[in-house]
Amino acid sequence: MPDTITKQSTVFDIATILASISAVVGPRGMLTEPSDTAAYTEDWRRLYQGRTPAVIRPANTAELAAVVALCAEAHVALVPQGGNTSMVGGATPSADGSELVLSLGRMNTIRAVDPIDMTITLEAGVTLKAAQVAAAEAGCLLPLSISSEGTAQIGGVLATNAGGNNTLRYGNARDLVLGLEVVLPDGQIWHGLRRLRKDNTGYCLRQLFVGSEGTLGVITAAVLKLAPKPCETEVALCAVPSAQAALELYTRFQRHDPAAVQAFEYMSGAGMEFVLRHIPNTSLPFQPAAHYVLIELATPRAGAGLRDMMEEVLAAAMEAEVVSDAVMAESEAQRANLWRLREEHAEAQKREGASVKNDVSVPVSKVPEMLARAAEASARLMPGIRMVPFGHMGDGNIHLNFEQPPGMDAAAFLAQDHAIMDMVGEIVRDLDGSFSAEHGVGQLKPYMMPDWRGGAELDMMRRIKTALDPLGVMNPGKVLPKP
Ligand code: MLT
Ligand code: ZN
Repeated sequence: MPDTITKQSTVFDIATILASISAVVGPRGMLTEPSDTAAYTEDWRRLYQGRTPAVIRPANTAELAAVVALCAEAHVALVPQGGNTSMVGGATPSADGSELVLSLGRMNTIRAVDPIDMTITLEAGVTLKAAQVAAAEAGCLLPLSISSEGTAQIGGVLATNAGGNNTLRYGNARDLVLGLEVVLPDGQIWHGLRRLRKDNTGYCLRQLFVGSEGTLGVITAAVLKLAPKPCETEVALCAVPSAQAALELYTRFQRHDPAAVQAFEYMSGAGMEFVLRHIPNTSLPFQPAAHYVLIELATPRAGAGLRDMMEEVLAAAMEAEVVSDAVMAESEAQRANLWRLREEHAEAQKREGASVKNDVSVPVSKVPEMLARAAEASARLMPGIRMVPFGHMGDGNIHLNFEQPPGMDAAAFLAQDHAIMDMVGEIVRDLDGSFSAEHGVGQLKPYMMPDWRGGAELDMMRRIKTALDPLGVMNPGKVLPKP
């Protein structure tokens, strides 16, 4: 680790900066031992190995703002970090050891749940799971659900505009945000924790921070919208003969009652095989297939007859050979087991070996075409490569991931990541899609920005960054490519 941190023209002794910060946060608020900081310097996918002189863990917004102000004065960069579940290295410090990690984990109070205003007010370090439970205890639904919800924290979920399983019905994280509290890169606190449904008072600043991946400021608290808690929920797992059939099934449910479709998730035979192989206590309720769909219907209306609807749509789809096998959950435990088959895909893929992830979106109608073209192009690019597409078909966001050919050296496979991402990118661009649907840009994908978001769009982003963070101390190297 360097003894000095050099940023711009100012040079500070690390020990001096850390002593000033320690006076603010106290001994519980700072980790400096490599054994304590290790978990904060590597990303979930183990793609990035960062280094840091310290992890700062403020207990409240005032402490955090004081730390940010000290770092701004010293021109020291900060990397805000929540549950450290980024898929694109968005919360991992650089390898040169010049950046401090700012962990939000101790700021984990749920300040209020209001079932009349239908809002929850909470600090950034609350896990998404804990927030869902608090909302449910008040008879409401926090309608955001992602595979990493047990670990992911609200601050990170908002800073990355997480999507997840319920986007088709409730939108992304940004659609749930009514108010934010943010510490700006100079240490000022923006007290924007409003909970108004209507508020036309100038630029919508909160939306600037949602999806900014910690490059414009640190989200410290939020007010989120809640939805009515469903009183009927039905879950079914189906085997379908093709991705085209999965799309046909989706349109059948949409035609029946679009308001009831809460999740429509696609999985391939390869991904399911990985789950069954690597995740304990998982099993399929029918014979293995090449394609699967998980459907969740939910409604807050009592007596809506969702079970009948699910049965009716599935029976007609089986008759038309759009579905080859289907099972409906008979209990809460079965429902959880069916969801596990989908939610464990990322973990199972990690255990299988090295993978290149493409978190892409296209118009829903184009998903089958994208999958067919990617299967063909990837086989041409690298014989033996295993395509493992899964994800949120109902909103057009597929994790078009690729696993190394069996037996291939992992590093050699990962060295081809740009070639694989470019191959997918070409198809996705042709279908009017996006190269990052929900995982963000992080440090993995800034190189793609000029190509995909160049011209006026990247220019506006750079101007916003410079206006709010002129010293470039907030999560450097993420989202925007180096000029
Ligand atoms: C998911 O939907 O499970 C995630 O976004 C994970 C992934 O892409 O691997
Ligand atoms: Zn996802």
